[in-house]
Amino acid sequence: MVVTGRRAMRQLGVLGRVEQSLQSAGVTLSVFEGVSANPRTDEVDQAVRLAREGAVEVVIGLGGGSALDAAKAVAACRALDAPASDLLVQGTPIVRTLPLIAVPTTAGTGSELSRGAILTDPSRRFKGGLRGDGLFPVAALVDPDLSLTMPPALARLTGFDVFCHAVETYFSRLSQPALRCWSLQAVAAFRDCLFRPRPGWSVRERATGMSYASSLMGINLGNASTCLPHRLQYAVGALTDTAHPAGLAALYPDWFERVVVAAPGEARVLLETLFVDAGEAAQAAAAPAAAMIGVLEGLGIRTTLQDLGIRDRAQVEWCIGQVTGAGDVDPCWRGPETVGEIFLSAYGRGC
Ligand SMILES: [Fe+2]
Repeated sequence: MVVTGRRAMRQLGVLGRVEQSLQSAGVTLSVFEGVSANPRTDEVDQAVRLAREGAVEVVIGLGGGSALDAAKAVAACRALDAPASDLLVQGTPIVRTLPLIAVPTTAGTGSELSRGAILTDPSRRFKGGLRGDGLFPVAALVDPDLSLTMPPALARLTGFDVFCHAVETYFSRLSQPALRCWSLQAVAAFRDCLFRPRPGWSVRERATGMSYASSLMGINLGNASTCLPHRLQYAVGALTDTAHPAGLAALYPDWFERVVVAAPGEARVLLETLFVDAGEAAQAAAAPAAAMIGVLEGLGIRTTLQDLGIRDRAQVEWCIGQVTGAGDVDPCWRGPETVGEIFLSAYGRGC
């Protein structure tokens, strides 16, 4: 079964190519073309019913992170014969799924090489993750040419998500020296391919660099946790149904200014990788929020919580209440109050 989004893959002819290729190989194919930007538990359940009727044996996720995450959830729910919302609530590690093949068409989520799948349960307005070794695809077909189908604005948003994975798995207390090296490689790729594109590099070379960085960060996501921005974004996404990288963009300056203060040594190396110029890196270390706003403006994706539809303080408080548990993998975590501080500070920027 191919699991994909509602329109893009069909319109771009990518789904047609996959169908033709599999059918000519004698594979009987089911297609589920109903995944939203924030994949939902009811969509997963619908796909699982189709998979059951079609006696599906292998699940292929085709598209961006949403399609890949939905495919992972379908493979898990079908194998375990459980509704998606139950697995999301239980939080038990997923060890058994149908075999999964991931075909990313964006360079962003790294879901093709990660052990997680993010889902939204609309009945509870809850966005969270299924996790476990079973969610690691048996094969990831990463073809940078497919990422060239993305509109430029989407490429910048998904590229920022790659950058966020690099930054957060770099600062995470669960990180290790080898993972930090890969984070810095991904930051360098983001710099050369998207943030300040190297003159003379072709569009295809840049796409290859970002696809490589995206997949590399998938490995990091599976081995070192993200930090607070990803946890906070889940609440924003659940409330506003806005794109994951847009939520990160609204929160990043206010988190970044705290993490740079909390981990100045790591921050210095990271900023020198991002800006290359030592003077510019030092300036960014002295004014981290402004530096991050500069990155976002450079990409043309600066946004606020208000832009995403959060209109009043009560909605901010709702988001704060959604973020539970300890966030102590994040060096700037000083207790649950850190969540409120970041949210309120980000909200204040949009007032
Ligand atoms: Fe992400």
